Amino acid sequence: MTETPIHKGLAGVVVDTTAISKVNPDTNSLLYRGYPVQDLAAHCSFEEVAYLLWHGELPSPDQLAEMEKLERSLRPLDARTKTLIDALPTTAHPMDVVRTAVSQLGTFDDTLLQPEGLTDRTLNEGRAMYLFAQLPAIVAYDQRRRRGEDLIEPRDDLGYSANFLWMTFGSEPAPAVEQAFNVSMILYAEHSFNASTFTARVVTSTLSDLYSAVTGAIGALKGPLHGGANEAVMAVFGEIGTADRADDWLEAALAEKRKIMGFGHRVYKHGDSRVPTMKAVLDDLVEHAGRRDLGDLYDALEQAMTSRKNILPNLDYPAGPAYHLMGFDTATFTPLFVASRVTGWTAHIMEQLESNSLIRPLSEYVGPDQREVPARP
Ligand code: SDX
Repeated sequence: MTETPIHKGLAGVVVDTTAISKVNPDTNSLLYRGYPVQDLAAHCSFEEVAYLLWHGELPSPDQLAEMEKLERSLRPLDARTKTLIDALPTTAHPMDVVRTAVSQLGTFDDTLLQPEGLTDRTLNEGRAMYLFAQLPAIVAYDQRRRRGEDLIEPRDDLGYSANFLWMTFGSEPAPAVEQAFNVSMILYAEHSFNASTFTARVVTSTLSDLYSAVTGAIGALKGPLHGGANEAVMAVFGEIGTADRADDWLEAALAEKRKIMGFGHRVYKHGDSRVPTMKAVLDDLVEHAGRRDLGDLYDALEQAMTSRKNILPNLDYPAGPAYHLMGFDTATFTPLFVASRVTGWTAHIMEQLESNSLIRPLSEYVGPDQREVPARP
């Protein structure tokens, strides 16, 4: 019998404060630095939201212009990173490619690239911007090389989302697709102390470096209980096939005690605040693509899950099919989550350093009592 209460998975445990975002399950709301995420998705670019997460305020027009100029200058895939990616098998999981590429960036001495008089904060702001600008090239190139296609150079006349789609598909996106992608990047950007963000804070709390913290966060995000769920949603749709088979499939899956990907959440218990916004994006994409079959399958599984378990969708449920309709390979979905969440992760890394305390919880020992090593012959 343990002496102290055990909070398995740290469920419900408040371990620190943060000024970056507020997840409120009672009001089913999410604020980034005080702004409702739905308003940011409707009115802002992902570049503006990245600035907000890092600096605490939305950028002025001049600040945005300066940020966009820097971000666009840092977009071309680093030649050393391309060499590394080319050395990896095309069968490697894209999350392993992204994790390896980010880890490798940490081996360069980027302090040489930075202006004089840098503080840790400004050095990390520079590193955050570098990852923000490089991840689209890494993610886009890995999808293209898996398809036997060549690297596409970035375009500095396009915004972040349009350029990401340009580098992936080699054509300028339709405005509706660009906006859909922009909304998804904003919705995925930040979500308080989720597992990958907390991983980044734990690594940072030892005073390790930003690249190590982001590498750890990517490892945590890969798991299907976290970011990997958006890929797994498409696998579930593939198993079910058509809407009329959804309820029978679910009955069998639940009988096998399977976790249904894209449903449930550790914090939201009355639905994920981001789902309505992402579902509206998905509905538009379904309409434009003439994929009513996919829309019906989505609705049928949601209906079955709600009625059988009363467990509601999380963001990954609409995001998966939306990325599919935008043309991304399923294996690219979680790397897209990385490209977005790197903004939240790096904001938390910098916040952790502002008032750092080593993160080191306790455990209750339940192993054998103290005993002697048997005498050796
Ligand atoms: C993300 O934390 C964040 O903010 C994460 C995220 C972010 O933006 O960073 O929002 C992104 O990771 C979203 C979640 C993506 N993961 C999935 O979709 C995977 C499927 N979901 C489940 O594994 C689950 O819902 C979790 C892990 C997300 C949350 O689980 P909890 O809060 O730990 O709850 P639990 O696993 O203890 O489940 C409670 C009960 C259990 O039933 P009993 O064993 O008590 O009978 O609900 C059941 C669970 O079996 N349950 C599910 C289920 N989710 C919960 N049963 C089937 N399918 C599910 N999806």
